[in-house]
Amino acid sequence: MLKEIIEKVEQFFEEGKREIEEIKDDELLEKWRIKFLGRKSYLNKLFSQISSFSNEEKVIFGKKLNQIKQKLIELYEKTKSEIKKEEIKYNVFLPGKKIKIGNLHPITKIIDEIVQIFYKIGFAIAEGPEIETDYYNFTALNTPEEHPARDIWDTFYIEKERNILLRTHTSPVQIRIMEKYPPPLRIIAPGKCFRRDSFDSSHSPMFHQIEGLMVDRDIKFTHLKGILTYFIYEFFKREVRVVFSPSYFPFTEPSAEVSISCVICEGKGCSTCGNTGFLEILGCGMVHPNVFKNVGYNNKIYTGFAFGMGVERLAMLKYQIDDIRHFYYNDLRFLEQF
Ligand code: PHE
Repeated sequence: MLKEIIEKVEQFFEEGKREIEEIKDDELLEKWRIKFLGRKSYLNKLFSQISSFSNEEKVIFGKKLNQIKQKLIELYEKTKSEIKKEEIKYNVFLPGKKIKIGNLHPITKIIDEIVQIFYKIGFAIAEGPEIETDYYNFTALNTPEEHPARDIWDTFYIEKERNILLRTHTSPVQIRIMEKYPPPLRIIAPGKCFRRDSFDSSHSPMFHQIEGLMVDRDIKFTHLKGILTYFIYEFFKREVRVVFSPSYFPFTEPSAEVSISCVICEGKGCSTCGNTGFLEILGCGMVHPNVFKNVGYNNKIYTGFAFGMGVERLAMLKYQIDDIRHFYYNDLRFLEQF
């Protein structure tokens, strides 16, 4: 008697399982629920029959009924959530899922910003290779054999013969552009540079520079001063003092370094500016006549100026970032602030 009834319960469950597989909407599912789990269901009727069995059988039978009931409930819940999922998939009236949109890296943003400032005053954008020859990186730029920048400790040489290297600055772009186009020209050239520096709070073996070059008849140092001062005001969007002081680069003569009053202490002196009140932001100068000679420009007719600035340095000053490594760690908490 008990065995037969248990077989029937199992058949009842199998039937429920078969039927629910076909169900794709709530209405039919509700009918199924009434039939298999409802008050008047076969299963529920059996529960009221438990009392007619012996104590031993009651335990077995009760356990079986509860098991089947539980399994039916599981089938029901699973189908219900599947139907809901389908509904969501096809319901065009539901609000869309929010897609997380990334943003540009702060370095990319700063480069765009700087390039825009120069673009507005007629500079064209140029680019050059990151892997350079010794000729473009040094020789054509009037950088002598014995210059310390050529040292194996400063430069990443790719070949033993030291002909191919990772460019140490963006200045080789000047040469490539002048070889290709006759004067006059005005270019701005952003890109990556590489030096054998250890990775610390103010150095990185890979960093970014922006090179500028302007060549025409009668270009004088005052043009350089005017354009760089204009750039600094546009970039920092605040009153800063700009100082040009004498410097040396093999490819410019005269050469200068440009410093601005410290944006952290407003020129009073602090740890960022080493108590000098000023921060160096770029190197520049009038293009050396030998450089013009190397690219076939007539250095009796044409003069020009060039400058090179470190992008990370400018970004750190603008946003008061104290460690260059933040730019490369890719920590979203940092990157999402820009
Ligand atoms: N290339 C120089 C540097 O990396 C900067 C510079 C560019 C100086 C152009 C003068 C003219 O330090």
